[in-house]
Amino acid sequence: HQAALTVDPAFRVGEVDPRLYGSFVEHLGRCVYTGIYEPGHPAADEHGFRRDVADLVRRLGVPVLRYPGGNFVSGYNWEDGVGPREARPRRLDLAWRSIETNEIGVDEFVQWSRRVGSEPMMAVNLGTRGVDAARSLLEYTNHPSGTYWSDLRRKHGSPEPYDIKLWCLGNEMDGPWQTGFTTAREYGRLAAQTAQAMRRVDPSIELVACGSSGSGMPTFGTWEATVLEETYDLVDYISVHSYYQEHDGDRDSFLASAVDMDQFVESVVATCDHVRAVGKHKKRINLSFDEWNVWYQSRFVGEENLDWAEAPRLIEDTYSVVDAVVVGDLLISLLRHADRVKIACLAQLVNVIAPIRSEPGGPAWVQPTYHPFALTSRYGRGTVLRVEPTGPLHDTARYGEVPTVTATAVRDDETGAVTLFAVNRDQRESLALDVDLRACRDLVAGEHVVLTDPDPEATNSAEAPERVAPSRVGDLRVEDGRIGAVLPPLSWNMLRLT
Ligand code: AHR
Repeated sequence: HQAALTVDPAFRVGEVDPRLYGSFVEHLGRCVYTGIYEPGHPAADEHGFRRDVADLVRRLGVPVLRYPGGNFVSGYNWEDGVGPREARPRRLDLAWRSIETNEIGVDEFVQWSRRVGSEPMMAVNLGTRGVDAARSLLEYTNHPSGTYWSDLRRKHGSPEPYDIKLWCLGNEMDGPWQTGFTTAREYGRLAAQTAQAMRRVDPSIELVACGSSGSGMPTFGTWEATVLEETYDLVDYISVHSYYQEHDGDRDSFLASAVDMDQFVESVVATCDHVRAVGKHKKRINLSFDEWNVWYQSRFVGEENLDWAEAPRLIEDTYSVVDAVVVGDLLISLLRHADRVKIACLAQLVNVIAPIRSEPGGPAWVQPTYHPFALTSRYGRGTVLRVEPTGPLHDTARYGEVPTVTATAVRDDETGAVTLFAVNRDQRESLALDVDLRACRDLVAGEHVVLTDPDPEATNSAEAPERVAPSRVGDLRVEDGRIGAVLPPLSWNMLRLT
């Protein structure tokens, strides 16, 4: 098996917006409680947040964190989560049939997210609430002082406004599971009204309208078009959500999940540009892929079967080497669309379908999926180059014929260093990759880092937290303007050249 690609700084896809490496903290299961926050834990800081988890979050490299949901936000009263803790109400969370104690709210979250090096991306509730609650929340977070809500924030201990830039207008409002789900037209109107009021409070914010909750939704496509007809001039992004898993042992299809992501992104871009053309608009709407990951949804019992509980163990998927390779491939897909996908959030951050796991009173550790994410976030900054790999194709039941190797390259605009990310989707054969670097004369040498394992189902655990980790397999030397590298079967690879 052989594949080839050419790296030429002249062929640019676009700049990487660092917010492509976002993640997501929902009040769901143990993401917040006993995930990021656990007063009484030996590693808890003076605010009750776990230092061990915070360190792993910092090393993951997530410049933006979506909060507080997800399905949760569609029944959330943000006012419940501010002010003296002892006065905060306990509420039923209808989304996950859980008891919400409101111990953590917007103040604690914003302060924590900044301590771990992230900016909050706040969602407003357009399920049970609307314009009024959204504008008061924004006044609370972003208005300096001298009004009811801004002075309340000051009274709660934050004299400076939080200045939160990025806001989601609701969550998955097309989904029948969503509290307050509705039609595209009705949601579009409400999103437009809310956006207009929010922009009057703070014109500097950026807004994300809800797209479909998945490309399989019956209204996919028309939902986006209708919502954008109502909101085009008032919003900046449309959201995209997608989760992948292996179905019925069909690993070849699962390994090609990024083919679906490519098509999904390209369809939503086409829809945005269609509405732009029809409405004679000037600006472009970009994509916020604010929920994506591997999620074994078929193993979830369904929220309707849950008992009411505080911070229950929900959707705590354990990820394998295969899942990590797919996550790395999905990141390649996002990068390849960096001209239009500006924001993306790995859903979620801790315990709940997450790269980081923690036990109450016990350790925190990272899943295999953590590694390709952390390395891509660290080195995949700068400009994405169009590398156009050529190589073998193979058949899959779900997606037909797919490329066996996928790759992208990111050039650091300051140093000129180039990092290639590549996946070999072949489960059995390794693949020889030839890289033409003649257009990058300054690059001389580099390293090859691989995530693969003789046991593709290997996982990490509290007892064996480093069972699966990437390894440096060799040095690279540029000869006659080329390098060659062997990509092992079922592997995620990073080739870093300086
Ligand atoms: O991330 C888990 C859930 O998936 C979110 O709450 C929801 O938005 C999506 O359906």
